[in-house]
Amino acid sequence: MGISLTSLGHAGFLLSDGPHTVAIDPFLTGNPVATTKPNDVKCQSIVLTHGHADHVGDTVAIAKANKATVYAAFEIAEFLGSQGITAEAGNPGGKIVAPFGWVAFTQAFHSSSYNGQYMGMPCGVIVHLGGVTVYHLGDTALFSDLKLLGEIYRPDIALIPAGDRFTMGPELATRAAEFVKPKVAVPIHYGTWPLLAQDVSAFKPKGIAVRTMKPGETWQYA
Ligand code: NI
Ligand code: MN
Repeated sequence: MGISLTSLGHAGFLLSDGPHTVAIDPFLTGNPVATTKPNDVKCQSIVLTHGHADHVGDTVAIAKANKATVYAAFEIAEFLGSQGITAEAGNPGGKIVAPFGWVAFTQAFHSSSYNGQYMGMPCGVIVHLGGVTVYHLGDTALFSDLKLLGEIYRPDIALIPAGDRFTMGPELATRAAEFVKPKVAVPIHYGTWPLLAQDVSAFKPKGIAVRTMKPGETWQYA
C-alpha cells in the first residue's frame, strides 16, 4: 500500500495507488507554474474543493477525455452534469465511497463561484486511497475545528494553503498544521502569481515534517 503524489502546481495534485488515479483541483491552462498539459493527465476520478477557476481549471476537458467521475459540492456537480460530465455531489460533513476508496468533504472558510455563478459551499476534501489519507484543506482561513477534523480523519498528509491574501499565510498555515497534526504537511496555493508571492520558510509547524513540492514533482509515500 502507498501512493504517489504529484504536484500540478498551485493547489492541484494527482494521487495514485497504481490502479486508481485521482486528480484534485487540476488547474493547468493559464497556470503560469504548471509543467503538465491537460492532455497528459490520465485519471479515473477528479475531486474539487470549490468552484473558483484556479481550482476547477481544466476539469471539464480532463473529465471528458478520461470519462472520469467528478466529486464536488452539490452546485458544482449540478453544473458539471449540465456539461455532460458524470459528477457525484457531496457537501461538508459527508463522505462518498468511491472506486479508489472514499472522499469526505469538510468545511472551508472561503467563497465559491464560477463565471459569476454561485457554486455552493467551499470545501476541504479528504481523499483516502492506497491505505493513505490525504487532507487537501482547499482555500480556507484558520479555524479551530481543524483540530477536530484532524482527530477524526487522522490524515497522513495535509495540503495546506499558505499564500496569504485569499487564504492563510505561512504563520496561520503553521497553526492549521498544528491543529490537523498530519505526519507530513505540504504548503500549497503560493508562488503562482505575484499576488501569491510568499516565502514559506515561516511555515514551521512543531513536530510535523514539512515537504515543499515543485510543480511536476512526484513523491512516493508508503
Ligand atoms: Ni478560491
Ligand atoms: Mn484559490
